[in-house]
Amino acid sequence: MVQKKEFLYEGKAKKIYRTDDPAVVLVEFKDEATAFDGVKKDRLEDKGILNNRLSALFFSLLEKQGIETHYLKTVSEREMLVKFLEIIPVEVIVRNIAAGSLSERLGIPEKTELKKTVLEFSLKDDQLHDPMINHYHIYAMELAEPEEMAEIERIALKVNQILVPYLKEKNIVLVDFKLEFGRHNGKILLGDEISPDTCRFWDSSSGEKLDKDRFRRDMGGVIEAYREVLRRLEENDTPAVD
Ligand code: TMP
Ligand code: ASP
Repeated sequence: MVQKKEFLYEGKAKKIYRTDDPAVVLVEFKDEATAFDGVKKDRLEDKGILNNRLSALFFSLLEKQGIETHYLKTVSEREMLVKFLEIIPVEVIVRNIAAGSLSERLGIPEKTELKKTVLEFSLKDDQLHDPMINHYHIYAMELAEPEEMAEIERIALKVNQILVPYLKEKNIVLVDFKLEFGRHNGKILLGDEISPDTCRFWDSSSGEKLDKDRFRRDMGGVIEAYREVLRRLEENDTPAVD
């Protein structure tokens, strides 16, 4: 049994702890919610529990489909063990339908289906407000190698191919989502989390938002929406927590 050791790092939604195995860290999902680079903040009771469950569920599903992720094991309500990654500070955004910053930037009305899946990259840097970057910036700043970016893009598109039909079955439209990657033993692995904090989920029938946009836009019912996503994913499924 891997032992939790000293605190290593605190992000906006998670805390990371060392373990007695240097190749493994423990992630604790917090209830804190932030938006707009931490300008808007609140505590949403149980969000950490729900995102721990949801992330474990998504990572397990992806692993079964041949995607290597950092996920190892759920160890408590709010904690999972993951492989230690050397994080690549690039956020990878995958978009199927226009929404959020894409609609604002390009004037494409929200809900417009994109004719081709869009991949975007942004520099993971809150102080700079996660600016959008392209491959030239990534290589100029030595954030990743071209072969690594090719692998990252391949995985990101495969994750989309797996999650879109899976969620559709649950009456959820996967509008867009953000992924993070890192290096582990010379391989690129999917890291961070996959949850309503990092995805846009819309109810297929009503179009109702089932994600963090409810918090960003002060719509209320945030936790209820996260719970509803978990309920749909766990229906006829084996629980993610063991
Ligand atoms: P955006 O439309 O605001 O750029 O967001 C695109 C997707 O990325 C959306 O599913 C929410 C997610 N996202 C994050 O996970 N973290 C972030 O910091 C931002 C801005 C978006
Ligand atoms: N940028 C993230 C979001 O809005 C969180 C934050 O910026 O504090 O999803």
